[in-house]
Amino acid sequence: MREQKRQWWKESVAYQIYPRSFQDSDGDGIGDLRGITERLDYLQYLGIDLLWLSPVYDSPNDDNGYDIRDYQGILDEYGTMEDMDELLEEARKRGIRLVMDLVANHTSDEHAWFIESRSSKDSPKRDWYIWRPGNEGAEPTNWECAFGGSAWEFDEQSGEYYLHCFSKKQPDLNWENVEVRQALYSMIDWWMDKGIAGFRVDAITYIKKNPSFPQLAAEDGRRYAPVEQVSLNQEGILDFLRELKQAALEPRGAITVAEAPGVPLEQIHDFVDDTDGVFTMLFQFNHVDLDIKPGGKAEFIDWDMKKFKDALSLWQRESNRHGWMGLFLENHDHVRSVSKFGDDGECRDLSAKMLAAYYFLMRGTPFIYQGQEIGMTNCQFDSIDEYRDIGSLNLFREETVKGRPASEILDYLGRRSRDQGRTPMQWSDDREAGFTSGTPWIKVNPNYTEINVEQNMRDEFSVLQFYRRLIALRRQHPALVYGYYESLCEESVEIGAYRRVYDSEALIVVCNFTGHRVESAELEEILAGGEPVLSNYETREQGSLRPYEATVYRWAAATGGQ
Ligand code: GLC
Repeated sequence: MREQKRQWWKESVAYQIYPRSFQDSDGDGIGDLRGITERLDYLQYLGIDLLWLSPVYDSPNDDNGYDIRDYQGILDEYGTMEDMDELLEEARKRGIRLVMDLVANHTSDEHAWFIESRSSKDSPKRDWYIWRPGNEGAEPTNWECAFGGSAWEFDEQSGEYYLHCFSKKQPDLNWENVEVRQALYSMIDWWMDKGIAGFRVDAITYIKKNPSFPQLAAEDGRRYAPVEQVSLNQEGILDFLRELKQAALEPRGAITVAEAPGVPLEQIHDFVDDTDGVFTMLFQFNHVDLDIKPGGKAEFIDWDMKKFKDALSLWQRESNRHGWMGLFLENHDHVRSVSKFGDDGECRDLSAKMLAAYYFLMRGTPFIYQGQEIGMTNCQFDSIDEYRDIGSLNLFREETVKGRPASEILDYLGRRSRDQGRTPMQWSDDREAGFTSGTPWIKVNPNYTEINVEQNMRDEFSVLQFYRRLIALRRQHPALVYGYYESLCEESVEIGAYRRVYDSEALIVVCNFTGHRVESAELEEILAGGEPVLSNYETREQGSLRPYEATVYRWAAATGGQ
């Protein structure tokens, strides 16, 4: 194993806030900055020290803030720049550093740069975005954007099309243009001056496009093919990324966690590495996207917990040598982990804790997504009218046009829509879960009466208290931060287990992924002599794992592993 540089952010535990759904302080039904500041004491109680804030920048909100109108302004609904400064200051007092979302692949079509760019073909900013003439009266190419439909939007005034990998209100910036890059670097500098610690880097693997703008082969019966084929991790992207690092990130000591779909394992060291990597941490998505057909938008495929485990351990093993992972099970683009990988019914409590122990003690910096720490579940949305996410609404429209029954599409969205992770934070059993005194912008999950922060704080054995114990355990044992990772019981579909080793200490995390008892002679042998240091069961039992059991064992003098 290569010697790991000790870094504060490797030792951190991070928490992601989706501001719209976290805490409303003024009764308009939308979470805001003051709401977050009010809840900092809670975050301190939980024990995190790094906060990732999804966008709060000025935005028309087509994609809930990932369409930025002004990088240096705050959206009215969220408050003011003074509120932002106050949040930063109050967080600092509590030892919590802040990471903002850096959305650099695209802006809003209402951003001043785009307004200028679209104003005329001769505009000095025309080349800041990607414009092309039509192809015999149709779009320049048959690329399909991530949210469905063509990736090109026609502009009446100039008679040309602009490219958008996401919604049509999110035109892609042209990274080939040096002025664009410089403008983004100045913006990064401006935010670093404010005292933030760095950025979660949004959709960064999209910034380079295939320069020949080819027509793609579409699947049978389809008009378009996914834009990812020509815009995801394309050759030449590293030149841009390395410049971004050298010109803007490194000089300011910014920490970064890159949202990097499309990066293959072999390339991890280019993206994250103590010496050569562009970013400090990386989010990979194989373990959360294993249920859908790659490239397809709305089809499930078969998967099991072995696949889940394999997806994670592949990257874990590689990160022994290179790079540093951002560890996560949930974020604002994914459903609730207990509903997907655990049991959100009778064994919700146990399985939420088991999943927590499984990912949290892996090699990397753990991120907790708001509500995950109390075991929030997917919500039952009864009709499409209850959905808010642009991706889900587009998908419903398109699949309906194709003739797919509404019930089937709703079933898909119920298990896959981004809104599942966006229902308001459940603070208490007061009306609207204590999220707002007004009408929430999206439905509150009715189960807030049982699942909420207040209840979790009262109950000594709650999911929340389990997370607090996990955080304390990780802080206590450097092996859980810097230790070598080794998968155990690799062939098992039912058991997830791994060992972390560092200096003279070894810890083993053992999880039962199922709702029934699992016997394992192999495990018994591996665990011999270990002292249990944390478990989601109060008692210890030899010889078998109880339903959704997760137990962590420790050995003072390490054997093997290195
Ligand atoms: C990222 C964000 C997602 C957003 C997209 C476009 O994937 O996480 O929420 O829609 O980028 O900015």
